[in-house]
Amino acid sequence: MNKRIAVVSGGIGGLGTEICLSLARAGRRVVALDLGSREERIAEFAGLTREFDIRFEAANVADYDDCGAAIERIVGDDGGIDILVNAAGITRDGSLRKMDKRAWDDVLGVNLDGVFNLCRHAVDGMTERGFGRIVNISSVNGQTGQFGQTNYSAAKAGMHGFTMALAREVARKGVTVNSVSPGYCETAMVMAVPEDIRSRIVDSVPVGRLGKPSEIARTVEFLTADDAGFITGANIPVNGGLFMSF
Ligand code: CAA
Ligand code: NAP
Repeated sequence: MNKRIAVVSGGIGGLGTEICLSLARAGRRVVALDLGSREERIAEFAGLTREFDIRFEAANVADYDDCGAAIERIVGDDGGIDILVNAAGITRDGSLRKMDKRAWDDVLGVNLDGVFNLCRHAVDGMTERGFGRIVNISSVNGQTGQFGQTNYSAAKAGMHGFTMALAREVARKGVTVNSVSPGYCETAMVMAVPEDIRSRIVDSVPVGRLGKPSEIARTVEFLTADDAGFITGANIPVNGGLFMSF
């Protein structure tokens, strides 16, 4: 059988890089989709992933047409997309009383519109071929809300609604759609939180530490496996116990 083709948005980011490596180790051909403007980071990513079947493709997930063009290029090169992981995300934290419209639009545009933009272009190929795995990287803060994150929490909660609705639409076509809700992990996004606030957050995590990107990647690898076809419309929390629910 040909290798499954996996596309990971935010693919050169902290979680994205580990997700790419983990899927490649599991025998997938991986395309890391990310902004094309960060030459140094792209070069660093290329060095890290040199030994694996991983390549970089530039796209702005907030731009519908850009996503369409990127998906078209990948399908042209590789014949189709089997796995889509939506991991591109940004924060623009600030309490609502200080939040300008730009901070709202930017976060919704990348974190939520980005999921629509990529899924809209990728899903038909999956249903036509009768196989697909979509994983949306949400957040514990989409489940609980977080001070200073009305924009981010709204986008991440919106991803769950999107996930469940699309899961129903494509369930009979061999395509699963799930979300993963990480807690606070060791990446640039979390390191940008002021140190005193971050250490208070870590103190409140039952496991007592930040998550490792590889711990999120492990969950994504599990959900995208060929034999994970009965898990759909689900949300898997990976948060060190920060938010427990059933
Ligand atoms: N709970 C209650 N009160 C809080 C608070 C909190 N968590 N944080 C701040 N406050 C209080 C302050 O003490 C201050 O009180 P006073 O006015 O009485 O002095 C007031 O709220 C400050 O309010 P502001 O409107 O001035 O707040 P701000 O606009 O400056 O925003 C903040 C502060 C930038 C949001 C800061 O609190 C912060 O960085 N918080 C962390 C947010 C966070 O967790 N972001 C996660 C980023 S990583 C990520 O998102 C990944 C993931 O999915 C897990
Ligand atoms: P990260 O290191 O900042 O990676 C995110 C990647 O997405 C970056 O490479 C970023 O590029 C890219 N990106 C931003 N805007 C984009 C756009 N418009 N188009 C394409 N790519 C874009 O963050 P991370 O910690 O790995 O987070 C990955 C995902 O997990 C995000 O969706 C985040 O919300 C979610 N998450 C993270 C945590 C955590 O603790 N780290 C917890 C819960 C959920 P730039 O760096 O150039 O902006």
